[in-house]
Amino acid sequence: MSATTPSSQSPVDVLVVGGGLIGLVTAWRAARAGLSVTVVAERLGGPSASTVAAGMLTPATEASFGEEELMRLCVRSRDRFPGFVAELEQDSGASAGYRAEGTLQVAFDADDMARLGHLGDLRESLGLATQRLTGRECRRLEPMLAPSVRGGYLADGDHSVDPRALLQALRAAAERRGTVGVRDRVHRLVVEDGRARGVVLDSGGEITAGQVVLAAGVDTPSIAGIPEGVVPPLRPVKGQLLRLRTPEGEPPLVTRTVRGLVKGSPVYLVPRDSGEIVLGATQEEQGFDTRLTAGGLWEVLRDAHALVPGVSELEVAETCVGLRPGSPDNEPLLGPTAVPGLHLAAGHFRHGVLLTPVTGDAMARALTTGALPDYARRFAATRVTGGRAAVADGGPIEGGDQWT
Ligand code: GLY
Repeated sequence: MSATTPSSQSPVDVLVVGGGLIGLVTAWRAARAGLSVTVVAERLGGPSASTVAAGMLTPATEASFGEEELMRLCVRSRDRFPGFVAELEQDSGASAGYRAEGTLQVAFDADDMARLGHLGDLRESLGLATQRLTGRECRRLEPMLAPSVRGGYLADGDHSVDPRALLQALRAAAERRGTVGVRDRVHRLVVEDGRARGVVLDSGGEITAGQVVLAAGVDTPSIAGIPEGVVPPLRPVKGQLLRLRTPEGEPPLVTRTVRGLVKGSPVYLVPRDSGEIVLGATQEEQGFDTRLTAGGLWEVLRDAHALVPGVSELEVAETCVGLRPGSPDNEPLLGPTAVPGLHLAAGHFRHGVLLTPVTGDAMARALTTGALPDYARRFAATRVTGGRAAVADGGPIEGGDQWT
């Protein structure tokens, strides 16, 4: 998508605020559905939580107690990935960096193995097949695993994607479908007569749209002009990661995603086609803090080294930090809000990459029909307010619960 900087545009069907995976997939799928679309973002397809993410598509090995409904949506999205990538690569002419080698989840000690066993039982109850392996069987699959690894589970259906490649493919696909990109900051949302009408840009321009989608990750709630109570607070959950480079001509340390527990602490190693291995990630709740810290990186390296000691030999290609957008219940907020014409696609927390396909599908449905598909209704953006509220211009909604 080439970025334009118009002072004003003729009205479009859909204006998407946000140039990460969620914003761009919404734009592309809406454009594919025949709508005229403009995306506005300060860093269109540039650095964001999307470019920091490791890109695991691993609902089976990520299943945890109390998140069963979210996991069902994650599984749907994982299963959608191959077809989604085929459509995307056809539309964009670019690779999305999808890899289908499966995921190995391993335990460092007996207590970790006991915990993985409970998660294995949960997976079985959710109908997610994984295969229990001994330590030796794990090392047969991934010979660079530490001799101390106790055992694990193989999830053949849990794959990975390169989020940076995916982002560029989405940007190209959206552009080829006629989406216009505007590189600017939103000064404020325009709500007139109780309806979202577009945005005013920092540069002074204005974009008018039939429908507006807010998809700016953790920055979404702070967009000026959103009527009070319509968008819940999103808490930034910091993740620090490292990218390690495999020396040229040498085989990669791991051939598939390896997730593990090390004395209760989760860590993952995700290989890329380029030979890089992404190690992650911390999970820290301390506001909008994006400092890389020695302690955070040490924690990730310590645990990755416990599982695959060879990581300490590799060159550090990059260190990175991002803020996951956590909604009040850790589930995404999708579709129409209490303000007519205003939609949300935000709050994807740890699953933004994995949920990219279903988010695009669900948002395109909401933008073309006014309603989310059945499988996405639980994640409706109105689930806190109930969507019954009357909205005054820029004022509070009446009759709805307020997020505090
Ligand atoms: N989904 C991986 C992470 O949030 O670290």
